[in-house]
Amino acid sequence: LPTLDDIDVSGKKVLLRVDFNSPVGDNEELLDDSRIRAHVPTIKELLERGAAVVVVSHQGRPGESDFITLEPHAAKLSALLGQSVQFVEDVMGPEARRRIKNLKPGEVLLLDNVRFLAEENINAPPEVQEKTYLVRRLAKLFDYYVNDAFATAHRSQPSIVGFPMVLPSVMGRLMQKEVEALSKIFNPKVSPKVFVLGGGKVPDSLSIIENIVENKVADRILTTGLLSELFLVAKGIDLGESNMKFLEKKGILSLVPKARKLLLSGAPIDVPLDFVTVDEEGNVKVEPAYNVTGLIRDIGPATIRSYSELIKEAKVVVMRGPAGVMEDPRFRKGTKELVRAALESGAFTIFGGGHLTAVIEELGMKDRVGHISTGGGALLAFLSGKELPALKALEISARKFGLIKG
Ligand code: 3PG
Repeated sequence: LPTLDDIDVSGKKVLLRVDFNSPVGDNEELLDDSRIRAHVPTIKELLERGAAVVVVSHQGRPGESDFITLEPHAAKLSALLGQSVQFVEDVMGPEARRRIKNLKPGEVLLLDNVRFLAEENINAPPEVQEKTYLVRRLAKLFDYYVNDAFATAHRSQPSIVGFPMVLPSVMGRLMQKEVEALSKIFNPKVSPKVFVLGGGKVPDSLSIIENIVENKVADRILTTGLLSELFLVAKGIDLGESNMKFLEKKGILSLVPKARKLLLSGAPIDVPLDFVTVDEEGNVKVEPAYNVTGLIRDIGPATIRSYSELIKEAKVVVMRGPAGVMEDPRFRKGTKELVRAALESGAFTIFGGGHLTAVIEELGMKDRVGHISTGGGALLAFLSGKELPALKALEISARKFGLIKG
């Protein structure tokens, strides 16, 4: 796929899709800036090479508490770039278009949350997305489209797949780095490959597991967190009233048939042996997975031991999502010990998501990391062998506009 090396951006107007989607606190403050930081090299390079850069990103999903304006992101980006970043409370309306038209080389303008537009929240093929108002209104103001949003590469939304249909398009430096590092996993000679999966977004994780299993990407999938609770229930284990209620409330119980089908197909999925739980009085206990009474907060010591053994044998370890409620120091151990096992294993390690980065830093073992990805769902989609809509669209674009041969 073409990169920034394949285009001359001097004096040109560039639309840059990034993924600034960050955890947000109660007062709409950003709790972590690593995703914004990760795009700085691309933005700097474009500015230094004389482009006028218009940045577009989403933040959260409609209806969720982190669905906010990008104003705080603009302030953060200004600080990281050491240069003022313009911000407009608009995406494709007259004011946004006026500001885009007036932007000069070397200047950067951040548009507001692109998911404020209904169109952006619908997934559809590129040929549909190129006809959205977003693409029709904005594309004509630009010379190039650069996609640096690896973490959103699994979405077929207009700002990801629509623009490449109508503008010459390339990968940004972050996208390039992610794709290069992660492609290493497809080397069939390097095995065993162990995936350690936890964290939220259980429905997404489950469909990814289906792909991983189908494409035989992983030799072993070690589950933690809510995902592991789902598989335990699918095995017929009752996790006690409080956990079952919680799973029901989150809509996770409806996924049990799917999870059961995977287990019956012989998928190499492991579940925890024990958990750290907390009861109604606030007592913290270790309980076996088949006899849980309290609310599950972390994996237990027997699970840490057995998972660590498997991780130590691996040649590639992919880890995504915390193993417990690690914001609370009492429930941090599972995540921390699994990260430590991965880093001590000598395997090529790929980590996804902000939670794990914090733990790696805490352990002071950053120099042993193979790759830390900015992707969550996108990371798993890529690693499961699924074609990412963002990359597919860049490929179509490159052929259409003659940036690659063939
Ligand atoms: C992510 O955080 O995984 C990306 O920003 C994509 O967000 P989404 O799952 O809401 O599309």
